Amino acid sequence: MKSLLGLIVLLMVGVGVVVAAESVEKVDLKLTDAQQAAVDKVKEGGGMVLRVASNTTALDVAFHLSDKKNTDGTIAHLKAVPNVTKLNLAGTDVTDAGLAHIAGLKTITHLHLERTNIGDAGLAHLKGLENLEYLNLYGTKVTDQGLNHLKGLKKLKKLYLWQSKATKAGGQGLAKAIPGLYVNTGWEKPKVVEPPKTAEVTFKVIMEKGHKGDGSLLAKTLTKKASKDEIKALLGYYEALAKMKPKKGPANSWKAKTGALVAAIKLVDKGDQKGFVALKKASDCKACHSVHK
Ligand code: HEC
Repeated sequence: MKSLLGLIVLLMVGVGVVVAAESVEKVDLKLTDAQQAAVDKVKEGGGMVLRVASNTTALDVAFHLSDKKNTDGTIAHLKAVPNVTKLNLAGTDVTDAGLAHIAGLKTITHLHLERTNIGDAGLAHLKGLENLEYLNLYGTKVTDQGLNHLKGLKKLKKLYLWQSKATKAGGQGLAKAIPGLYVNTGWEKPKVVEPPKTAEVTFKVIMEKGHKGDGSLLAKTLTKKASKDEIKALLGYYEALAKMKPKKGPANSWKAKTGALVAAIKLVDKGDQKGFVALKKASDCKACHSVHK
């Protein structure tokens, strides 16, 4: 067991080495001394600086795993770092004023600002980031007013506004100004299939629609004239009936009778011929009424 753990640790170290090989100091980016000094400052401030891919000089700068303070002061050095395309400031203490430091970084395509204190004033500094494709503002203080600053970012494809102060209408307004923009507001509620309301499914409804007369669901089912939907509706009625309490008669009798109805209609629903025989027997009006009605 111990040797297996050792192997896993060795493998993890191995992966670590591969990742480190992508790190800027290990590869020849032909950085000037000033640029290398700026990269070092960013790292000291808690930023990870990595190449986006080994065949490009584009850099990914990420602070979201850092617990260092004064992100504003650190990102001031990004001006001297070439070709920053991705910047992740999620969950940092970056401020509206601090974003002025990245206002000129036109190479940025992806910017994470989620869960920060950024508001509308900060967005004003993003106006010039003309290559921005992805912007995450989830859990920030930005409002619809601030979104106006983004109208000129024609390459923007994805904008996340969940749990910000912006409204759905505000997001839609921006999507109109930027063709092809997807705005995630997080307000779309998942569709829930409502179970039938028990208040509506009374004995009266079940007996009249389900049992009474030639047009009833039961009569149609037994004469094989019922559609799939009608069979399903009768199944729904019987399942509801099984949960209801009759005014008269012992509980175990009710359980057995309604259970037989549910089992029979399920067989019918599956196309099993035995279901019809079972349903005819289980739906005996008198047998049930004499005990429970
Ligand atoms: C599993 C038991 C059961 C079966 C089978 C059953 N019923 Fe009923 N039925 C009841 C009960 C219980 C009531 C009384 C409901 C109440 O207390 O309001 C009732 C009531 C009724 C009522 C009166 C509804 C009202 O409140 O106005 C009609 C009509 C009716 N049944 C028709 C039928 C017919 C027709 C059949 C046979 C095809 C049938 N039932 C089979 C249990 C059953």
